[in-house]
Formats: sequence, structure tokens, C-alpha cells
Amino acid sequence: QKRIGILTSGGDCPGLNAVIRAVVSHARLTYNWEVLGIPYATQGLLERQTIPLDLHCFDLGGIDPLLSMGGTILGTINKGDTLARATAIVASYHALALNALIAIGGDGSLAILHRLARLGNWNIVAIPKTIDNDVALTERAIGFDTAVNTITDALNRLTFTAASHDRVMVVEVMGRTSGHLALHAGIAGGADCILIPEISYSIAKICKHIQDLRDRVHRRFAIIVVAKGAKPATETPSCDAASLKDCGIGQYITTQISRYFTEHIDIRASVLGHIQRGGIPSAADRLMATAFGKAAVDLIAQERYDRMVAWQNGQVIPVPLQEVLSHCPLFVNPQSYLVETARAVGVYVGNFT
Ligand code: F6P
Repeated sequence: QKRIGILTSGGDCPGLNAVIRAVVSHARLTYNWEVLGIPYATQGLLERQTIPLDLHCFDLGGIDPLLSMGGTILGTINKGDTLARATAIVASYHALALNALIAIGGDGSLAILHRLARLGNWNIVAIPKTIDNDVALTERAIGFDTAVNTITDALNRLTFTAASHDRVMVVEVMGRTSGHLALHAGIAGGADCILIPEISYSIAKICKHIQDLRDRVHRRFAIIVVAKGAKPATETPSCDAASLKDCGIGQYITTQISRYFTEHIDIRASVLGHIQRGGIPSAADRLMATAFGKAAVDLIAQERYDRMVAWQNGQVIPVPLQEVLSHCPLFVNPQSYLVETARAVGVYVGNFT
């Protein structure tokens, strides 16, 4: 008989509740363990707050909403100050008499929890989540697939309005350090340019691409997807660094492009923001959430701790958490097949400066 804790940490994403559902179901049905939800990640742990979780405890009229519900019923925090409170958090873990903790987080949260677990000699199993998909050693993290679908849908919508007005639409998407979201959704949503942190680009090349579409295929609209963390092009016409900070990269390159053209160009910036993190999880995210939740519980049953469950070649496998963290964040490989694919179908993905 074991008592396990589960928490969600870092930015929310679709699929977290599906993981919680899978963990509770497998732990209760297969092992008959007690499962305690820890609200608001390390903050809840520090305050020794727990939510008893059981089969069907969130059912509404007999329907279990967790599989299809976005966000996290446990709440989460996105701040990294917990090491300063390490001693108190460690004491709380032991006071709660947990045998193990399942932590669902991105690289930042998992790094903090891993250090705390080492410091406090506690047992941790990690599950990767982040719409940025930048956790190493796993092909997918929870939330990524849904976010790609959300952005793709937004690009479809924006294409209709851009086409109607002969406009260039610059769409800023999330991705602080890596461009997986922009690359995947940009290809799926039919973008003309995809700008990511890993590959430098040129305003002149973007403008030439827009002009080519006009001259060659008589298309007067274009869709440009830019990851939030993409660096500004250094060439002129430049906008000052302060304005980049104030307006964000989407608006910044919108200004650069409009200054580059000698004649007037109709161009707008659109920032998708947190809409990318909300929503109902996709079937692929629910499936992976269920498989990850099951695998995490089995690792605890086998007493194999300090590992993260990872998706590799269509299977869930455990990988050492330390190794994952030493390879984070996972960047887009500029030589990857997807970058090559995007270029092969005529998308400008940067370089050629
Ligand atoms: O979920 C990951 C992420 O999307 C990053 O790309 C982004 O910079 C960050 O979350 C923003 O999070 P918040 O505004 O909630 O702090």
C-alpha cells in the first residue's frame, strides 16, 4: 500500500487533467494506492495542502470531465523561487508521508523539483508537458499537439481575412527559446514564412518572398509565422531595442517589413498569446496523457525513481531525469527533415542571408 502525490507545475496546457485521471485510475484500480493532489505545485507542498483524489470524484452526472478538460484542476504556478524555500518544502514532503511524487512539468519546473527531491531524499517520477515541446529525450510533451492544432486553426482563419484584404499577416506564436510550435503549425497551416529562434533570417529575403508571390502567382496576401523568441533581423531598416521589448517580435518585424517596401504595403500583426495554451485537449494529447500517467504509476510500483516517462518511437520509456535536464531546452535542428520539408514546399524558413 502506497500513498502518492501528484502536482502540476509551470504554465498550464491541455492534457494535464487527462494525466491526473490516468494516474488516479491506474493507482486506485490496479494497486489500490491512496492518491493526493497537491494544489499549486510547490506552493501547495510548502503549505501541506492536499486534495484526496479518487475514481469518479469529479464526475458530473456520471460523466468524467477530466479527459477532455483543459487547464489543471490542481492549479499551477509559473515562478521559480522555490529553492530559497527548499528546507521547508522538503520538510512538508516528509510530513505528508508520501512514498513518491508524480510531477507534471516543463524543463524549468522539473529542474527545480529534481533538485528538491535530491536535497530532501524523496522519490520523484516526472511527466513532460509544455506546448513549446522543448523537453529533451521525448519526441512529444503533453499539450504540444493541441497547441499546434489551435495555431493551425488560427492560421486558417487568418488566411481568409488576409486573402480578402490582400494583406500580409504576421502571426506571433509562443516559443521562448525553441521554434517547434511555429515550425509544426506553420507547415500545417500553410504559412509562407516561418521565423524561429534557431535560424537567422533576413527582412530583405522575407520581402523578396512576398514580392515573388505577387509577381509569380499573383497572390497579394502572405502569412508569416514568428516564434516569440525569434531574434530580430540585424539588417536595416531597424527598430530600436526598446520598441522590440515593448511591442514584441511580431509587431517589430511587421514594422521592419513595412519600412522595407518603398510602396505602401497592407500588413498587420496578430499575437495569439495564451489562447494557444487553452482549449480542449486533442485526441493525441489525451492518448499520450493516459499512456504517460499509466507508465508513471508503474515506475513507482517498480520503485524506479528519478526518471521521466518519454515518448520515443511510438512507445513510452523511462529516461533518467538528470539526463533529460542536461539536454534541455531541446532546440529545432536547423538541418531537420521538417525544416527541409518546409523549404521544399516553398516556405522561407530563414537563412540565405
Ligand atoms: O507554456 C510555455 C510558454 O508558452 C512560453 O513559450 C511562454 O513564454 C510562457 O509560457 C508564458 O507563460 P506565462 O505568461 O504564463 O508566464
